[in-house]
Amino acid sequence: MSTVQVGGVEWQIYNPQGKRRVLVTKKLVGDRWLRELENADCRVEVCESREILSNQQIAEAIGNRCDAVIGQLTEKWNDDLFGVLKKAGGVVYSNFAVGFDNIDIAAATKHGIPVGNTPGVLTEATAEMAVCLTYAAARHLLEANKYLVEGKYKSWLPDLFLGQQIYRKKLGVIGTGRIGSAYALSMVRGNLMDIVYYDKFTNKKMEQQLEQFNQYLKEIGEKPIEYKNAASMEQVIQEADIVSLHPNLDSSTYHLMNAERLQLMKPNAILVNCARGPIIDEAALVEHCKQNPGFAAGLDVFEHEPALAPGLKDLPNVVIVPHIASATFWTRSAMATIASLNIASILKGYPCWSSGDMTPFVGEPGGNGEPPSDVPPLAAPSILNAKELGLQSLQPSKAAL
Ligand SMILES: NC(=O)c1ccc[n+]([C@@H]2O[C@H](COP(=O)([O-])OP(=O)(O)OC[C@H]3O[C@@H](n4cnc5c(N)ncnc54)[C@H](O)[C@@H]3O)[C@@H](O)[C@H]2O)c1
Repeated sequence: MSTVQVGGVEWQIYNPQGKRRVLVTKKLVGDRWLRELENADCRVEVCESREILSNQQIAEAIGNRCDAVIGQLTEKWNDDLFGVLKKAGGVVYSNFAVGFDNIDIAAATKHGIPVGNTPGVLTEATAEMAVCLTYAAARHLLEANKYLVEGKYKSWLPDLFLGQQIYRKKLGVIGTGRIGSAYALSMVRGNLMDIVYYDKFTNKKMEQQLEQFNQYLKEIGEKPIEYKNAASMEQVIQEADIVSLHPNLDSSTYHLMNAERLQLMKPNAILVNCARGPIIDEAALVEHCKQNPGFAAGLDVFEHEPALAPGLKDLPNVVIVPHIASATFWTRSAMATIASLNIASILKGYPCWSSGDMTPFVGEPGGNGEPPSDVPPLAAPSILNAKELGLQSLQPSKAAL
């Protein structure tokens, strides 16, 4: 296999004879994504570097001719970069992520470039990490592990690492879209928790599922749980024992958890963030955790990734992991497949899939990653600006399933 050096980094070339040139700015997971691009007659150049590429490095790699790019959430896809892609003959971009706060969609639309993302397939994996962080924060998991491996464990003690019990407590969720509602259902069903949530929209489907769960609880003689769509975010923050954040990042959610709102939380509450770092004012959180040793936080994402706010990593009541919430093999390979199908389908002139259901493309979560039908939909799975660009859409009922 040949490689090429551009912008000071090495790019591995697959299918060198391919007629279309597609850049992939990081090595992806699995192999179906590459097959899909090769089947679309693409020469695929994959960046070997594990460092974040600058826009200049990406622009150099795009060069004079490039049909499409699969990029990362760590890159800033702004007007200039879309301009460079357009000038090189680029006709489509896909993010390797469901979130798209790193992309100037209006700029891409202005340049006539469809922008893809990878929704749906991160839901369970990300919700599972939020559950992990909730338990880890509630039960001093990392602190206790450190204590043990450092040889400090001399005897079982009645008060060693007393934590917060979760069972029958009140859960708070802000943003009950795909991931927030999956997390909510997992926590409520597993721990018989009451729930208070806040979103711009009432989640009727989640409420139906909570109602069905209550029917089941009644049948087995258990007290039903209470659920409430809060009138304000403050209500969630004040009432809940655990607050988990799952909205997308935009101007309405930037620093949603600031010093003032942290003060409204119970002193021994737990705050979890598996959405985007800037949703929390991280410096304010460090201060709050110092002042309230009974408070705990579980974080997958950070305000200025990969940097951490001074003092954050030294706090015993904060559990931190390096943005790995969606890092399961199934999810990451399904994301790669969807990103590559966004590219391949637009290059082939296919319409855009008009449903949020990705199973026709990648099967059920946790499966083998192959589509359930021999003839998967001939459509780009998720193009964010399809309507603005006037691209044709394909209704699931009309697809060959
Ligand atoms: N940590 C990770 O690795 C990881 C993985 C996947 C997704 N994410 C993040 O999680 C976010 C949510 O993903 P999703 O698939 O559930 O998206 P989604 O669009 O299904 O859900 C987002 C929800 O947030 C709500 N919302 C938006 N602004 C709000 C506000 N101001 N107040 C209350 N609710 C608000 C929306 O109405 C929506 O219901 C993504 O945008 C992404 O940034 C992070």
